[in-house]
Amino acid sequence: MIHYSKLGFVNTKDMFKDAIEKGYAVPAYNFNNMEQLQAIITACTMTQSPVILQVSKGARNYANQTLLRWMGQGAVEFMKELAKENNLKEIPIAMHLDHGDSFELCKSCVDMGFSSVMIDGSHLPYEENIELTKKVVEYAHQYDVTVEGELGVLAGIEDDVKAEEHTYTNPDDVEDFVNRTKVDSLAIAIGTSHGAYKFKLKEGEEVPPLRFDILEEIEKRIPGFPIVLHGASSVLQEYVKIINQYGGNLEGAVGVPEDQLRKAAKSAVCKINIDSDGRLVMTAKVREVLWNKPQEFDPRKYLGPARDELIKMYERKNKEVLGSAFRV
Ligand code: G3H
Ligand code: 13P
Ligand code: ZN
Repeated sequence: MIHYSKLGFVNTKDMFKDAIEKGYAVPAYNFNNMEQLQAIITACTMTQSPVILQVSKGARNYANQTLLRWMGQGAVEFMKELAKENNLKEIPIAMHLDHGDSFELCKSCVDMGFSSVMIDGSHLPYEENIELTKKVVEYAHQYDVTVEGELGVLAGIEDDVKAEEHTYTNPDDVEDFVNRTKVDSLAIAIGTSHGAYKFKLKEGEEVPPLRFDILEEIEKRIPGFPIVLHGASSVLQEYVKIINQYGGNLEGAVGVPEDQLRKAAKSAVCKINIDSDGRLVMTAKVREVLWNKPQEFDPRKYLGPARDELIKMYERKNKEVLGSAFRV
């Protein structure tokens, strides 16, 4: 067992308190490899934004759980060096398990030095979700690790779980869920979904707005309680276009418009999860470089430009969408 504080991480308590008070959202960016991690840390340090590093079960399987944890620890040292070199402040970094699906997985992350875990029991019947979430909270809170729960089901794919339809969060449930589980934050379903195909639009149709009416009702039931928005990529069309131009096929890929996220960030939504946008940026740049330079075979020559473009995208998100820049 190693405690997260020894690794330089913080839990999400103070981050969320500040975000709610000041009306912004803390970015929660997923990573699976070194270039994504470098880009997230660079962008958040340079824009002086707190950050939540997210690791999914799939990421742990892909990159190896031990290696990922050490990468997270390395990221803290990298951030300190970067801050010093640029005369900037050090930023708070939380290491978070995204979509934990069992008590054992959450416990393993707590024991390995994560400062925050999500237990996603949203696919379970309500009482089973409460039971599982409560069990994780009871374990995690012994070590001051914060826990995110979820009510309502997002459409899309999360690891092995695929849901075709949304089930919006029922505001009648949130108070009971939060009181009985003692979670620190709550992910809700108000119309976002995971992946790059969030809405099926017919010719000329616009993306439907998020259900801010449900969000407002939830805020009334649990005032000031930290709310989390998953599936918040905007599926930036400039990158979809590059992917399609250089041999890809992402026809019909569409995400949540950024003005909707801006509005959400000003409310009790204090954590916004973005993964797909990063994947799209990387893929776009790698495709572009390999298409234009077919002789290239040094990974640094295509992953480097991908990393540079990722930094730009994350910096812009922090400044223009989440409002998390210059909050440290
Ligand atoms: O919510 C899902 C995240 O985008 C993680 O995706 O399970 O493919 O790593 P993943
Ligand atoms: P996106 O697929 O919209 O990036 O959502 C990511 C997410 O919710 C991670 O938990
Ligand atoms: Zn998610």
